Amino acid sequence: MKIAHISDLHFGAHDPVVRDALLAHLIEAKPHLVIASGDITQSATDAEFAAARVFFDELPMEVFVIPGNHDLPGMDLTRFVNPFGRYRRHLIDELDPELAAGPVHIKGINTARRILPHWNWANGAVSAKQRRDIAKTFEVATAPWRILVLHHPLMSPKEFPLDITVFNSRELLQTIADQRIDIVLAGHQHHAYIETRQETEHKTLFVSASTAMSTRIRRQPQGLNMLELTDTTLRIDQLRYADGRFVLFEALTHVKPTVSG
Ligand SMILES: [Fe+2]
Ligand SMILES: [Fe+2]
Repeated sequence: MKIAHISDLHFGAHDPVVRDALLAHLIEAKPHLVIASGDITQSATDAEFAAARVFFDELPMEVFVIPGNHDLPGMDLTRFVNPFGRYRRHLIDELDPELAAGPVHIKGINTARRILPHWNWANGAVSAKQRRDIAKTFEVATAPWRILVLHHPLMSPKEFPLDITVFNSRELLQTIADQRIDIVLAGHQHHAYIETRQETEHKTLFVSASTAMSTRIRRQPQGLNMLELTDTTLRIDQLRYADGRFVLFEALTHVKPTVSG
């Protein structure tokens, strides 16, 4: 099974040339599924969500999407009264989606909040209910690969110190370990990397994607991750935008250890 992981599309602050190159790349690469890990728009306007909808509709495969902090309106009344109204109307009603397909069981959670007890509301949070939902999902999941999708990253690449607060991230890391989640997909930093965390014999891969098409690039060009999974093997290709197309710059392979008993 092939899954494309894209993030931080930022429709409204996107580069139309990169947008078209990404669309062409996905149509040609034919992943079974596209996962979009938040910041779909720049300012959460109707026009931006409509442009995102058109893009997703042009993709011939299913799209699994979760919101990011930019998918909340800015400082207007809507942010407080109906924060995800436009997101829900244009994209999908469910903010914490779930999907079981082939060798994967995927749970998404919304970490964007209209208000946080912090000066920077671009940070994220995970609620106790979301942690219970994750546990409930994976207690009964039978697929070999357990994937969690969230916008805000929980791990940091060594060369890019994490300047992000995710409230209750320590508790979430415990849930991830308890539920033996294999892959955590995130975005927000506009920086692609893979970090691993080993809990006894179980390994969790924390995979972050760069921005897929926005002009808001930081240290890295636009990019995407392509995951290829069998029941026991995983290959992650990290692609970068260069000269009009997406090209491979790093690949990682991982074999799932067989669990005895
Ligand atoms: Fe972003
Ligand atoms: Fe973000």
